Amino acid sequence: MKKDIITLGIETSCDETSVSVVKNGREVLSNVINSQIDIHKQFGGVVPEIASRNHTEAISTVTKEALNQANITFKDIDVIACTYGPGLVGALLVGVAYAKALSYAINKPLVGVNHIQGHIAANYITYQKLEPPFLCLIISGGHTHLVHIKGYTEFEILGKTRDDAVGEAFDKVARVIGLEYPGGPKIDKLAKEGTPCIELPHTYFDNLDFSFSGIKTSILNLYHKNPDINKADLCASFEKTVSDMLVTNTKKAIKNLNTNKVALAGGVSANTYIREKFKELGLEENIEIYYPDKVLCTDNAAMIASAGYYNYIEGNISDFTLNAIANLKLN
Ligand code: KG4
Ligand code: ZN
Repeated sequence: MKKDIITLGIETSCDETSVSVVKNGREVLSNVINSQIDIHKQFGGVVPEIASRNHTEAISTVTKEALNQANITFKDIDVIACTYGPGLVGALLVGVAYAKALSYAINKPLVGVNHIQGHIAANYITYQKLEPPFLCLIISGGHTHLVHIKGYTEFEILGKTRDDAVGEAFDKVARVIGLEYPGGPKIDKLAKEGTPCIELPHTYFDNLDFSFSGIKTSILNLYHKNPDINKADLCASFEKTVSDMLVTNTKKAIKNLNTNKVALAGGVSANTYIREKFKELGLEENIEIYYPDKVLCTDNAAMIASAGYYNYIEGNISDFTLNAIANLKLN
């Protein structure tokens, strides 16, 4: 009988210290997420040095808790997977250094994982039968990418943002209208009380790239000119316009690839309105739409363990020169 492969995933690219144990790339035995949101929200966003210091403080305890919840010990681990980019370099270094030390101590292979690849892999956990190829729209605080997932470790970027990431636009708009960091979930909630009645600019290019700085600036101007504007309507209009742009480009990519499988990934894919609009797109185009469970949309180590498992299976193993790369590309 084939032996199960137990992967320990480590994620420290931004403000979540997370460690997870995943069996055979798909079965989550534990996924401990220690969020620093309460620390950073008083500053209106993530303070990189504070993030690194908190990862250093938390990582051993979070790892111990992940092992306890999975009911395993260090000797049961087969592979150690850690995020090595993109992200905040000081934050990444904590996870990378910890993973290297652990790999050395227990003499098990080390696998570096691209954080964006991790977000994509979150779908393999929610949908046990999902396999490449498919189209994936990754929408997070740092990234907005339309990617053709050709294989577990083979990606072709079809379009990406030329300026702000979608989540960044959510967070900036939220901050201006007085909502707490992280703004995405707050806008999600408030938008439900409003209607999308405010006209905002859409931006399209000849290719599948995105741009969100126009809509962000337009909202900032509207709000500064009229601070009494209905915030719920503004949030609903913002979500509708963003979602129009995301759906339009995804529709074009579906036609170009002639695919019938589209997955969403990243923190913004937790958004209620966006999930609803993609569900409608699925019905309209007669295609399958996948989105990870909400807890797997935002940063977590289970997705890193899953992606790390596939890197390991395909022979992409790292050595002890592995380093943090702040602007690591997907390919
Ligand atoms: O994937 P993630 O945890 O981190 C990055 O890799 O960037 O994404 C965080 C982003 C933040 O910008 C946050 O505001 C946004 O995801 N977000 C949401 C929602 N939940 C998180 N945006 C819109 N609606 C949500 N429900
Ligand atoms: Zn992320």
